Amino acid sequence: MPTEVRGVIARAAGEPVELTTIVVPDPGPGEVVVDIATCGVCHTDLHYRDGGIDDAFPFLLGHEAAGRIADVGAGVTEVGVGDFVVLNWRAVCGQCRACRRGRPQYCFTTHNASQKMTLTDGTELTAALGIGAFCDKTLVAAGQATKVDPSARPAAVGLLGCGVMAGIGAAMHTGNVRPGDSVAVFGCGGVGNAAVTGARLAGATTIIAVDRDAAKLEIAIGMGATHTVDASTTDPIEAVREATGGYGADVCIEAVGNPAVLKQAFYARDLAGTVVQVGVPTPGMAFPDIPMIDFFGRGGALKPAWYGDCLPSRDFPALTALYLQGRLDLDAFVSETIGLGDIEEAFAKMQRGEVLRSVVVM
Ligand SMILES: NC(=O)c1ccc[n+]([C@@H]2O[C@H](COP(=O)([O-])OP(=O)(O)OC[C@H]3O[C@@H](n4cnc5c(N)ncnc54)[C@H](O)[C@@H]3O)[C@@H](O)[C@H]2O)c1
Ligand SMILES: [Zn+2]
Ligand SMILES: [Zn+2]
Repeated sequence: MPTEVRGVIARAAGEPVELTTIVVPDPGPGEVVVDIATCGVCHTDLHYRDGGIDDAFPFLLGHEAAGRIADVGAGVTEVGVGDFVVLNWRAVCGQCRACRRGRPQYCFTTHNASQKMTLTDGTELTAALGIGAFCDKTLVAAGQATKVDPSARPAAVGLLGCGVMAGIGAAMHTGNVRPGDSVAVFGCGGVGNAAVTGARLAGATTIIAVDRDAAKLEIAIGMGATHTVDASTTDPIEAVREATGGYGADVCIEAVGNPAVLKQAFYARDLAGTVVQVGVPTPGMAFPDIPMIDFFGRGGALKPAWYGDCLPSRDFPALTALYLQGRLDLDAFVSETIGLGDIEEAFAKMQRGEVLRSVVVM
């Protein structure tokens, strides 16, 4: 029997989100229904609400979730009813040209549920990032549900489902930070502070946190930043050079989604250094005006980081283990827990810079 549950949707660009009733179908072949325990509020949800991702309204928002498997469809073997899972938006196919060449982190045809969740009038919902988890239950492809140690706090490990994984992976996987490297992170929200954490885990010895918000910089120090730069009063390029013997950082991570900040990250980098862009641009943004000779002359690499080039099946259990061992403070990303009706207010707090993550507890 399809189930009616509470869900938070965005009906039209820029309009406030709405708590309503959604219909979750029974899981079909290869699908699972998950009882959502918690779901973080990511800046990408706000991009969806504002029409910054695409126009496939109405969206069922939410995608940083932990919960338990409630029901499985035919042929599902990887998870069973009751398993504690973190949801992911990279259920790799194993068949595409990226997967076949041993690069599943770039999988070009990741799996989502084939069926759609709907409103009670039958209107089909587009699930944010193929998940949609600001709701009591959601429907996903089985591969989107990654089992992790059930003793972990859902509100904390659920954040591995998007922003925290994207930030840690931007440093560890995309940026390939090595012991002794210098790293500068531009924008220290949930994603940027996760990149600071990832840089620390990878052994970076200089970690420069850049933000316009003093409170975010304070948090970054707790995450392992060795230097902070207030971009509202200080030129970040100069400040990063100063903190790195005049050279620039080995790895500069853009975690805002802003061409001017990408340009700063580009020029704050040492010769042969890497720029990682993990912030998501909106469709109207153009690549910053950078002379080609500067690109060529400096060498190195410019790399976008989708989801921190993670593999959920590899990374979620490992990072959960580090969390449980006290080596990765995921609790520090949970600024507050809120209810399903509080998401507009959580967006406002995010925009005012008051939180790393507001996490909805169902
Ligand atoms: N690539 C991915 O897979 C992925 C995954 C999740 C989120 N994201 C994206 O990452 C970005 C950050 O997400 P978040 O949830 O951390 O957002 P957030 O709003 O919590 O954080 C953004 C931070 O950037 C700071 N900032 C804004 N303008 C700045 C400037 N000019 N200079 C320095 N700092 C500035 C803000 O003060 C804030 O601390 C968003 O674009 C989001 O969509 C990407
Ligand atoms: Zn694939
Ligand atoms: Zn996200």
